[in-house]
Amino acid sequence: MKSLSPPCVLAVLVSGNGSNLQSIINSIESGVLNARIACVISNNPGAYALTRAKSHGVPCIVLENSGYKGRKEYDAALVEILRGYGVELVVLAGYMKILSDVMITAFPNAIMNIHPALLPAFPGLHAQQQALAYGVKFTGCTVHLVDCGTDTGPIIQQAIVPVMQDDTEESLSARIQVEEHRIFPEAIRLFVERKLVFSGRCVLIKG
Ligand code: GRF
Repeated sequence: MKSLSPPCVLAVLVSGNGSNLQSIINSIESGVLNARIACVISNNPGAYALTRAKSHGVPCIVLENSGYKGRKEYDAALVEILRGYGVELVVLAGYMKILSDVMITAFPNAIMNIHPALLPAFPGLHAQQQALAYGVKFTGCTVHLVDCGTDTGPIIQQAIVPVMQDDTEESLSARIQVEEHRIFPEAIRLFVERKLVFSGRCVLIKG
């Protein structure tokens, strides 16, 4: 049954391929997720994610890093755009820029990121390669709230992926992405349905 409440207004920030953006669009279009993507914003004009968004009629904005003096100035412009669209939840889907406190304070408990490891293990870049180099037998992915650190915010959802002995960074990344595409729309759905309760570092799920 379709929800009677108005769709939650999302903005999705991207820098690359946009397969996670695609999984969110698919969840909305199939009626699983009661949300509307007001805009997709990229710091990379060549991001394939922009092509995906346009093909689904989602407005796209490119904000290039070079147009701004630093992260704070960039983020101030970002906040103005997001406010203009009435955005309720900011989704970082492969967005390769660290947010400044300007963004974090503008959207408290309302910025989500997906990371390709089981945080707090392997934060930062090349998380899959870090997992292979460390020799862990299991890794996975994490959806978390964004705070001022790098991949340090409260954890919302995680999924476990076994590491195979012959895995490469590519093969492991591909299996992690299958799980990303499952748990990211699910975490967004929990937010949209107001089922997340924020309690310090812990995020509880109602029901
Ligand atoms: C994903 O692996 C995500 O975990 C990381 O960046 C990648 C983005 O992939 N933050 P895509 O652009 O959504 O395909």
